[in-house]
Amino acid sequence: QKSFYYDDLEVIRAKGTQLHQKPTDYNNLAFGHVFSDHFVNVDWTVDDGWTKPKIEPLRELSIHPGAKVLHYAAELFEGLKAYRGVDGRIRMFRPDMNMERMRRTAARASLPDFDAEELIKIMVEMLRVDKEWVPNSDTASYYIRPTLIGTDPTLGVATSLAAKLFVIGGPVGPYYATGFKPVSLLADSRFVRAFPGGVGAYKMGCNYAPTIAINKNAAREHGCQQIMWLYGGDEEVTEVGTMNIFVLWKNEQGDLELVTPPLDLGLILPGVTRQSLLDLSREWNEVKVTEKSFTMGEVRKALKEGRLCQMFGAGTAAVVSPVGEIVHHHNGKFERLKIPTMDYKPNYMQKLYDAITDIHYGRAVKEGWTVEV
Ligand code: COI
Repeated sequence: QKSFYYDDLEVIRAKGTQLHQKPTDYNNLAFGHVFSDHFVNVDWTVDDGWTKPKIEPLRELSIHPGAKVLHYAAELFEGLKAYRGVDGRIRMFRPDMNMERMRRTAARASLPDFDAEELIKIMVEMLRVDKEWVPNSDTASYYIRPTLIGTDPTLGVATSLAAKLFVIGGPVGPYYATGFKPVSLLADSRFVRAFPGGVGAYKMGCNYAPTIAINKNAAREHGCQQIMWLYGGDEEVTEVGTMNIFVLWKNEQGDLELVTPPLDLGLILPGVTRQSLLDLSREWNEVKVTEKSFTMGEVRKALKEGRLCQMFGAGTAAVVSPVGEIVHHHNGKFERLKIPTMDYKPNYMQKLYDAITDIHYGRAVKEGWTVEV
């Protein structure tokens, strides 16, 4: 089988002790702690292709300790959300973009390909089965985590001969414990997340694991929530690891310009929220919209000259998150740069946030951007 198919889907419903406790308060929901009752599970082998997909009660997986994923991080994942709209209907946001990225990542990871449409239909079915888990709240949503791992129990660094695709999910609140409050980011070019020719543009777990210790230090020593990853001698701003980065500034020509790093260098993850904010901004045509590299030097210069208006991150988990401060490791010292994001008027970031969350929660319609469950 070249793919698994919705028509072959088997649904096994959870009952009794397989049912989990649902959160009672959607306003105080941490990110990624709670999982709903069911998951999608499908296996692949090089000889037989994909098995029939199943939706089954969430349970532990059993894999051989020699499985490739456990040794060489033969793993990739996606993150997308479903929202319960003001009309009570459930919508997934641009799942086609996540699926195409997942297939590109699978190719790069030498893991098997599948039909994007089929997985979307199966995820819709999973949401139907677990619909009561989709929060009835306009600050919460249901986070969907498709994952693909190499399960072949052989220790050669080679293509996985067996794989498992699964999709788990659950209700989530804001990614940052601070909610919609501005975040502080550490910018320290002694560490890199990605490099040309590497896998920074693919959603592989191996991009995230090495960031954890650095992030922990950034929090402990500098009170930063995240790292803003820089690249190269001129300290190009790339992304934040959990979100893409945008700057709104008056450029040297005096035009108000929204800038985000480009995709063609392979240094950043091609975010669905990133693309959606670019699409909206281009449609509105109120500010110049540019995908290009910019450096910490340019950020500092714009800040010093009073031209820096706003900085914010954009991601599925993070939605649109204001940046209030950058702690920059500069000439051997840490300097705290205050970013006027929350003071700038008119608040362009807020306008983007409102527009995208209106689409998420069905307060506004954007043709082709949502899939109804
Ligand atoms: C997302 O925004 O969905 C992500 O995958 C970021 C993260 C939680 C790793």
